[in-house]
Amino acid sequence: MKKKYYIETFGCQMNVHDSEKMAGIMKADGMSETLNPEDADILIFNTCSIREKAEQKFFSSLGRLRHLKKSNPALKIAVTGCIAQQEGAKILKRTPYVDYVIGPQNIHVLKDLDSIQIHSVACNDNPLIAATDYPVDRKDGIKAWVTIMYGCDNYCSYCVVPYTRGREISRPREKIIEEVEKLAQDGFKEITFLGQNVNSYKSDLDFPGLLNKANGIPGIERIRFVTSHPKDLSKELICSIRDLEKVCEHIHLPLQSGSSRILRLMNRKYSYEEYLDKILGLRDAVPGISITTDIIAGFPGESAEDHEATVNAIKEISFDGMFAFKYSHRPGTYASGFEDHLGDKIKSDRLYEIIDIQNQITENRNRSLYGSTQQILIESFVEAREGRQYQGRTRTNKIVNCTQSTPPAVAFIIGDLADVNITNTARHSLAGIIK
Ligand code: SAH
Ligand code: SF4
Ligand code: F3S
Repeated sequence: MKKKYYIETFGCQMNVHDSEKMAGIMKADGMSETLNPEDADILIFNTCSIREKAEQKFFSSLGRLRHLKKSNPALKIAVTGCIAQQEGAKILKRTPYVDYVIGPQNIHVLKDLDSIQIHSVACNDNPLIAATDYPVDRKDGIKAWVTIMYGCDNYCSYCVVPYTRGREISRPREKIIEEVEKLAQDGFKEITFLGQNVNSYKSDLDFPGLLNKANGIPGIERIRFVTSHPKDLSKELICSIRDLEKVCEHIHLPLQSGSSRILRLMNRKYSYEEYLDKILGLRDAVPGISITTDIIAGFPGESAEDHEATVNAIKEISFDGMFAFKYSHRPGTYASGFEDHLGDKIKSDRLYEIIDIQNQITENRNRSLYGSTQQILIESFVEAREGRQYQGRTRTNKIVNCTQSTPPAVAFIIGDLADVNITNTARHSLAGIIK
C-alpha cells in the first residue's frame, strides 16, 4: 500500500508553491496524496509566521489534529515553512508530538521519509536551493507558479521573511526557461513568476530580460509576477509591461504606508513621492494597468498625521485592490524593539477606515469597466439551465463570470481565451457575455 500524505498550507503563494514541491517530492518517492487527515501516514503543516494570527491559526490546526496519533501511533507530523525555520527545535519542546521540523530551504529531506530521524530539525542554510530542480505536483493544469528567486535581503523593519527564507538568491535563467517551456508543452497557458522581490532578479539577465525570454515561449499566453518592490521598479520594467504582449497589465506593488517618515522607519528605501512618481510612470506607459497594494495600519509610532497620509495616498492613487493588515509584533524583527507600539483599538480603527475607503474605490474602478471588452482566460465552467457559466480573469487580474451569447457559436473550454463584453460590475468581480 502506498503511503499517504496530507498537507495543510498557510500563508503566501510561496508557501502554496512549496506545498506543490513537497507533494512532487513525496509522489516521486511513491507516496500519494489524501485530502482526509484520518487516512494519512504523515501530516504536513506548511506554516506562515508573517503575523501573529497566521501563527495562531497553525497552532490551533495542529491541536485539532494531534488526536489522530492516538488512533494511529505510526502517524508522523511534520512542521514545515516559516514557523519551522523561525522556531526550529522550540517547536519540539512546545508540541513534543511533532516528529519533524523542516525549514523552507530543506524540503528535499522529504524525498526519503524513512531516513529522517524522529524529532529532527532540518533548518540549515541550503546554498544549492537555486540550482535544485524540484519535482512539482501542480493541481491546476492552466496556471502555474514558477519560482525565480528565493529569500529576501530587504529587512523591512516589521518583517520576518529575511529570517525565515534566508538570503536572496536568483535561480539560473536556463532552469527557469526550461521549466516554462516544459509547462507550455504540458498545456499550461499562464505562468506567474514568484519571489519576495521579483524585480531584483539577477542572473546573466535582469528581470526585464527574463520577461523578454519568457515572452518568446510559444503556447504561454500570459505572464504575471509577484511581488515587486517599489525601489526596484525600473523604467525598463515599465517598458516590458508596455511592450511584451504576454506580460499582463497588473502589478502588485506594496506601498505599506503613505507617510515618508513611517516608510523610513519601515526601512522601505523609498519615499511616498518616489512611489507616486513610479505609479504615474506606470499609468502613463500602460493605460488601464491595474495596480494593487499592501498597507500596514498602526506601525509603531504612527501618528494621526501619518495615518492621514496613508488615507490620502489611497485616495490619490486609487488602487484597484488592496490587502491591509494591522501591524503585528514579530519577535526578532527590528521594529519589535521600537518603544511606541500602538494599542489594538487604534490599530483596528485605522485598519477599518482604510478598508472602507478602498472598498469604495475598488467598486468605482470596477464600475468604470462597464461596457468595455475584456479578454479572459477561462479557468472553470459549470453547466446551468441557461447554458455554460464560465469563470476567468482579465489580464488585469479581475474575476469575470460570464455566459455565451445565444446561440453559442462554439463552446469554450478551460484554458481558452475569450473576449467578454462587461455587462455588470461589483466589488469582487465583473460579469459579462462572451462575444
Ligand atoms: N515581499 C513582499 C511581501 C511579503 S509579506 C513585499 O515586500 O512586498 C506580505 C505583506 O504582509 C507585506 O507586504 C506587508 O504588508 C504584510 N506584513 C509583513 N509583516 C507584517 C507585520 N509584522 N505586521 C503586519 N503586516 C505585515
Ligand atoms: Fe518582508 Fe520587506 Fe522582504 Fe517583503 S521586501 S519580504 S516586506 S523584508
Ligand atoms: Fe508567511 Fe513565510 Fe510567506 S512568513 S507570508 S509563508 S514567506
